[in-house]
Amino acid sequence: SAQLNKLAKAAGKLYFGSATDNGELTDTSYVNILKNTDEFGQITAAYPSSVKTPGNAQKWQYIEPSQASFSYASGDQIASLAATNGQLLRCHTLVWHSQLPSWVSSGSWTQDTLTSAINTHISNVVGHYKGQCYAWDVINEALNDDGTYRQSVFYTVLGDSYFALAFKAAAAADPAAKLYYNDYNIESTGAKQASVVKIISLLKGAGAKIDGVGMQAHLIVGSTPSQSSLQSAIASYVTAGVTEVAYTELDIRFASLPSTQSGLQQQATDYTAVTKACLAEKACVGITIWDYTDKYSWIPNTFPGQGDALLYDSQLSKKPAWTAVSSVL
Ligand code: XIL
Repeated sequence: SAQLNKLAKAAGKLYFGSATDNGELTDTSYVNILKNTDEFGQITAAYPSSVKTPGNAQKWQYIEPSQASFSYASGDQIASLAATNGQLLRCHTLVWHSQLPSWVSSGSWTQDTLTSAINTHISNVVGHYKGQCYAWDVINEALNDDGTYRQSVFYTVLGDSYFALAFKAAAAADPAAKLYYNDYNIESTGAKQASVVKIISLLKGAGAKIDGVGMQAHLIVGSTPSQSSLQSAIASYVTAGVTEVAYTELDIRFASLPSTQSGLQQQATDYTAVTKACLAEKACVGITIWDYTDKYSWIPNTFPGQGDALLYDSQLSKKPAWTAVSSVL
């Protein structure tokens, strides 16, 4: 039967993919679907066995838990899964205010020492995965929803100079990886999207390479932006000078549960809008869902009472949204 990655590739896209986490990889029924490359042509690395939710293994907290001491086992497990299956790997993420070890978030930094810590982190991690990452999310979530810079340790110590620093270090360590700025609530136009456009210019003005914008797309059933508004945001990033964009963490959650039959139809409609926007914009290279099944979604842990956000239910059965996505691809 028709499957998502196969259809996405036939439609000219690079991949349809899923995030995954190490703790789920002992679930054979789950893995059998994940490794079917007709269904998923790309995976995003993840972690740890204690947290059954996607997308962690390459984060600073896990990969450099103490200064200059690197721990690659969990990230390597996902990278080799992708390599074995012939799937692309999106690598996530290098500089982010969240999931930082305390030596970074609470260190007493000067501009020089933090610059050096960022350079060491990026050159080691990107160097370790050199040649294995289709793309790296170099900087994640640097903006507040009103478009101002988030007051992370990076911004507080270095101001906006850490953007070029990070992208230059990543480019030096793996010249072939596509380098992305990744964030949420930038899927449609507004103050935050406008600030992403400014970040692209800032990087280019500083002589740094940025290839792509990753739109996380953690959306809500019934308030997903329209296809045309999704396309306008994509077009703005292309005009600003990136050669590609992607939906990197797509999920569309119910704000309250249980979900109803009509809610599942609305969710299908919302997934259709995102899929069609990617299809209609040549620069959109692919769609990654933030894990594929409600069984392993991060949503219920982070947004209590919400969920059912993915294309497969917790019994690994396809939902109406799966049917809708496969029929527009
Ligand atoms: C989430 C993971 O899925 C969870 O397991 C973890 O507890 C928190 O982080 N934006 C991102 C992702 O860029 O890294 C986040 O992943 C979800 C929001």
